Amino acid sequence: MGIVTGQRGSRTGTTQEGVVVGGVSSTNNRKRWSNLMPIVVVLVVVAEISFLGRLDMAKNAAMVNTWTNSFYSASTREEPVKHQDETTMGVLDLDNNRGKESCEDWLEREDAVSYSRDFDKDPILVSGAEKEWNSCSVGCKFGYQFGSDKKPDAAFGLVQDGAIASILRSMESSHYYSENNIAQARRRGYSVVMTTSLSSDVPVGYFSWAEYEIMAPLQPKTENALAAAFISNCGARNFRLQALEELEKENIKIDSYGGCHRNRDGRVDKVETLKRYKFSLAFENSNEEDYVTEKFFQSLVAGTVPVVVGAPNIEEFAPSTGSILHIKELSNVPSVAKAMKYLAENPDAYNQSLRWKYDGPSDSFKALVDMAAVHSSCRLCIHLATKIQESEEKNPQFQKRPCKCTRGSETVYHLYVRERGRFKMDSIFLRSNNLTQGALEYAILKKFKSLNHVPIWKQERPESIRGDELKIYRIYPVGMTQRKALYTFKFKGDSDLRKYVKSNPCAKFEVIFV
Ligand SMILES: *[C@@H]1O[C@H](CO)[C@@H](O)[C@H](O)[C@H]1NC(C)=O
Ligand SMILES: *[C@@H]1O[C@H](CO)[C@@H](O)[C@H](O)[C@H]1NC(C)=O
Repeated sequence: MGIVTGQRGSRTGTTQEGVVVGGVSSTNNRKRWSNLMPIVVVLVVVAEISFLGRLDMAKNAAMVNTWTNSFYSASTREEPVKHQDETTMGVLDLDNNRGKESCEDWLEREDAVSYSRDFDKDPILVSGAEKEWNSCSVGCKFGYQFGSDKKPDAAFGLVQDGAIASILRSMESSHYYSENNIAQARRRGYSVVMTTSLSSDVPVGYFSWAEYEIMAPLQPKTENALAAAFISNCGARNFRLQALEELEKENIKIDSYGGCHRNRDGRVDKVETLKRYKFSLAFENSNEEDYVTEKFFQSLVAGTVPVVVGAPNIEEFAPSTGSILHIKELSNVPSVAKAMKYLAENPDAYNQSLRWKYDGPSDSFKALVDMAAVHSSCRLCIHLATKIQESEEKNPQFQKRPCKCTRGSETVYHLYVRERGRFKMDSIFLRSNNLTQGALEYAILKKFKSLNHVPIWKQERPESIRGDELKIYRIYPVGMTQRKALYTFKFKGDSDLRKYVKSNPCAKFEVIFV
């Protein structure tokens, strides 16, 4: 480790003496070792092969490779050491090293400072809720009881112990339950907020491919009334009741199955009923950003055009442009009524608004709903584990990682990337002469293709809308909210990306595939 520290020392400007001394002594040890290395490798490989003979061959071949690679890379550590002797005060002249070890290999090794906690052996512990998912890409245990010898990492509800993260989880609108407002929850001491808001730490939405058969085929619109409504509570705090009444004043015939303005027997299957109508009144009880409930998603399943009173950003939840109608405020009712009548009388235009049922929804919609392919409890554990690692990265051994490698006029930057919904990061490298968004995308695709990566939605999405190639939808820094990641974040050109990579050594990105 001596030489490693030497390079790092030179980079971070710490004193050199101690480092050089350490470097010399460990150099000698390492040289002796590395002379023996080829023999050791052969012996280990032979032992591995005979030991593993009984087990699954494909897996073992890979294992043996990893073993030998790690031995070889251990022995190549000697290379930079020589240069340490040749150059002054630990400034590594990698030019001399050209052809011996690539910057990529060197960075892969030098930056691989290991985290103190192995989540496979020591999973994230959460108390206050039971396990409700099948698998997670990070070790994650729910139902943890207080009072055992270990403290949980997090607990549902407010806990006084500062070492334990307090989690607020609710799918209710903050317009009714003000404690669900993110800023208010933070003030009260919650460190992890899980609400329908895509700005919360771990969003819990009403949507998922598993819960809603979103691509269910269309059925003939056989009802006389234009729209169906299932509204049970007439006392909502928004204007949904007035909107219903105003639509009726505009001569829109509405069959109302809910308790509010009921004119039909409500004991029916809601989705099956909606399928027969051209429009569905998807009226939420509050107009809150990202608060979009089953009223909306059931309309999509039914293949009826949702007429929405609710989230001001409902367009972001639409399966394609022109697929929904939105009553933003009461004064919109006449124009929405006019649009409903027009669509009802023009089959081609109406069919066009359900076009996504044939052609598939937009990438934007897929990227949103795919989020739910990973259970929110698992996303919570990924969030907590990521935070734990982030705080460890403040320690000196992480701060001293080189994260870049300069040879002559070229610098290679080491970045990390993972798919949204997974925990483990993989390395990619960008070169200073090509530090562009195009090169970033290219490097990510190349990496994931080489890993035969199966995107998270592969098992979740309806078959008709599964792509077969990896396609990048978004790339964003790890830790960003989904609201920013999906809708607002973008590097402002290549220069912005360059600035980001240079000022964030070993930058970590998350990618959304569609
Ligand atoms: C609606 O459009 C789809 C796709 O273009 C087409 O297959 C279907 O026959 C159309 N339906 C009607 C009723 O026009
Ligand atoms: C930069 O990266 C792109 C991939 O996005 C590649 O096509 C191009 O050849 C690279 N240019 C240089 C100068 O390496």
